[in-house]
Amino acid sequence: MSILDKHGTLERNVTLLAVFAFLVVSIGGMVQIAPLFWLENTIEEVEGMRPYTPLELTGRDIYVREGCYVCHSQMIRPMRDEVERYGHYSLAAESKYDHPFQWGSKRSGPDLARVGGRYSDDWHVDHLRNPQSVVPESIMPKYGFLEHTMIEGEYVQDLLATHAFVGVPYSEEMIASAQADFKAQADPDSDYDGLLERYGDKVSVRNFDGQAGISEADALIAYLQMLGTLVDFSTFTADESR
Ligand code: HEC
Repeated sequence: MSILDKHGTLERNVTLLAVFAFLVVSIGGMVQIAPLFWLENTIEEVEGMRPYTPLELTGRDIYVREGCYVCHSQMIRPMRDEVERYGHYSLAAESKYDHPFQWGSKRSGPDLARVGGRYSDDWHVDHLRNPQSVVPESIMPKYGFLEHTMIEGEYVQDLLATHAFVGVPYSEEMIASAQADFKAQADPDSDYDGLLERYGDKVSVRNFDGQAGISEADALIAYLQMLGTLVDFSTFTADESR
């Protein structure tokens, strides 16, 4: 009996076929899944990644609340057209502090994973206020109300604590100083040494929206200007051994 005949027996007996199909799928599944139980981490550590500052995290919350992800992705795929347009493809580590992640599944507007530093703060203020004033054919809605909505960061401590609860490495000290750090980042005249000590001296301290007080636009622009800037790609090399 040749191997093909044997296979013929299998194909004619539906119960036998089901048993063997189950066996094959089980082995395949085990080969894929079992190693994950012995790996400590599936995300490569990358230098430069840090938890978001309280102001950036607040901005991120506004981004989620306003549904920016409905039109914008935050994931540059490793294909030539994307890399040429947006920059280095996104690394898993770059969204490891995102709860929930903002990869998105639709691009009515461009990918924002590396929008940080691409435009000035003023450009962002104008663009949020009236996108068509800077890009006439834009279909992006106006978000002018953000610069009129003042915020104090009274809940930002809870926001950090919640993110710590799901695994973001915010220390007790970061959580305790959350509101002070929130205010310090938007005010270059403040004492922001503590903020830089906790989050690194690459953190941008500016009056992002250019007006007195802290508005939702300040927080959102602080977040946008940070996107994609944490990892230094002039020195980054992927670890090919993994
Ligand atoms: C209805 C879809 C839509 C929504 C919702 C939307 N955008 Fe946009 N966005 C666009 C389009 C289209 C563009 C490209 C034209 C332009 O620059 O306005 C764009 C461009 C941008 C740019 C410039 C990107 C670049 O690389 O040039 C930024 C930054 C941006 N949007 C941020 C936001 C933020 C923040 C929100 C949420 C508050 C948001 N968008 C919501 C459609 C949208």
